[in-house]
Amino acid sequence: MTEILSQSEEETEKAGIALANALPENVSLIALFGELGAGKTAFVRGFVSVLSPGSRVKSPTYTIVNEYVSGNKPVYHFDLYRLNGKEDVYSMGIEEYFSRGICISEWSERFEDELPARSLKVSIEKLDGSARKISIQN
Ligand SMILES: Nc1ncnc2c1ncn2[C@@H]1O[C@H](COP(=O)(O)OP(=O)(O)OP(=O)(O)O)[C@@H](O)[C@H]1O
Ligand SMILES: [Mg+2]
Repeated sequence: MTEILSQSEEETEKAGIALANALPENVSLIALFGELGAGKTAFVRGFVSVLSPGSRVKSPTYTIVNEYVSGNKPVYHFDLYRLNGKEDVYSMGIEEYFSRGICISEWSERFEDELPARSLKVSIEKLDGSARKISIQN
């Protein structure tokens, strides 16, 4: 487990950049956990800036998935907030994306402890004020 203390949105973006630069080859899903406003999208923004430079990251709350294609591999950004549980997650066909590119999901709580193999968990916990504890399982 790697723990990073972030004091600002920019520092959370930097944590996403650092993970993208050190991403293990065999990882197909970065599973983000954390409450509303924790900073999941900020983390994704940093992550995507490395793997799909120039892409504009916006949370796919209504579309469930956004695709960013300016890098070597597509990046699929999921927001599972509106899904109800793992049946919903799997029935939207999420598994097909794992082999097509690198996936990163907000609201991974919706997997209900049924995360796919080859996923890396990243939890963002709100502390006081703008402080966040980012825990990366490795
Ligand atoms: N250390 C921090 N890291 C990230 N965001 C921070 C931090 N401190 C304050 N913020 C603020 O918290 C908010 C985080 O928003 P963001 O959209 O990234 O959260 P989220 O976890 O994706 O929320 P949602 O569950 O709605 O998708 C922003 O308004 C940001 O400015
Ligand atoms: Mg978000």
